Amino acid sequence: MSGQTYFITGGNKGIGFELVTQLAKANDENVIITTTRSPERAIELYELAKKFTNIHVIDLDVGDLKSIDTIEAQLNKIGIKGIDIYISNAGIFQSTDPILKTDADVFLKHYAVNTLGPFLVFQKVYKYLLTKETRKVIFISSASGIITKSYPLTLTAYGQSKAALNYSVIQLSKELASENFIVVPVNPGAVSTEAAKESIASLEATNPEFHKAILTRLITPEESVRGLISIISGFGAKDSGIFYDYDGEVLPF
Ligand SMILES: NC(=O)c1ccc[n+]([C@@H]2O[C@H](COP(=O)([O-])OP(=O)(O)OC[C@H]3O[C@@H](n4cnc5c(N)ncnc54)[C@H](OP(=O)(O)O)[C@@H]3O)[C@@H](O)[C@H]2O)c1
Repeated sequence: MSGQTYFITGGNKGIGFELVTQLAKANDENVIITTTRSPERAIELYELAKKFTNIHVIDLDVGDLKSIDTIEAQLNKIGIKGIDIYISNAGIFQSTDPILKTDADVFLKHYAVNTLGPFLVFQKVYKYLLTKETRKVIFISSASGIITKSYPLTLTAYGQSKAALNYSVIQLSKELASENFIVVPVNPGAVSTEAAKESIASLEATNPEFHKAILTRLITPEESVRGLISIISGFGAKDSGIFYDYDGEVLPF
């Protein structure tokens, strides 16, 4: 089967690293362009890119406009003419403080990285997606952004940023329907990445019941990404604008 070209943000660790690994191994005709904020943060990723020459690593901070402006030059440098699938994965979860105790800069940082960054990056890769017929645009969102669901912990800035992401994904799916784009927000599940394990561990003292419950639902990055790759490869026009869990279940907004 001929390969596809992917652009995946935040490939140096966690779910992003696993997406890069599985897609690079799946087909040596796949081309995976992925990003890191700095080479020092991506030792393992650069090692992987030595083994799998279909991986290309570029520098990108999705919360920094100047950095986003360098995407085109970096893609030109590695000779990329088209992209089949954009996966916006980079994200942060840095606070469980209640609204009254959350500083403005915490809200702003989550908004810049989790909500605005994914779309500003999309503005840069849009013309590369237009050169192909695949035109899949996938946003790694979170069930934390479901506004009708409440969790026994405060997800404040993070939940808000993912709910806002979903809002704009729905709009984008409508804006681009006439150009046959498939635009889908997905929840990767509760995934045992280093970042998630730290946040979950902190719940043991404050919320032991929820801590126990979440541990039973925790899945590995391998399992999450196997599910994500399977649903993404099956997405068609009818899926655009629908929120999917990694196992294919439809989620509410
Ligand atoms: N793990 C879960 O249970 C879970 C559940 C629901 C949704 N998600 C979502 O899944 C995605 C990946 O999460 P993860 O668990 O794999 O987290 P992670 O291990 O912390 O990885 C996050 C990735 O995003 C990158 N990143 C952070 N800020 C960035 C910025 N300003 N510019 C560019 N890259 C940046 C990180 O790079 P650095 O190394 O430079 O920080 C890293 O590559 C996120 O969008 C997250 O919200 C995760």
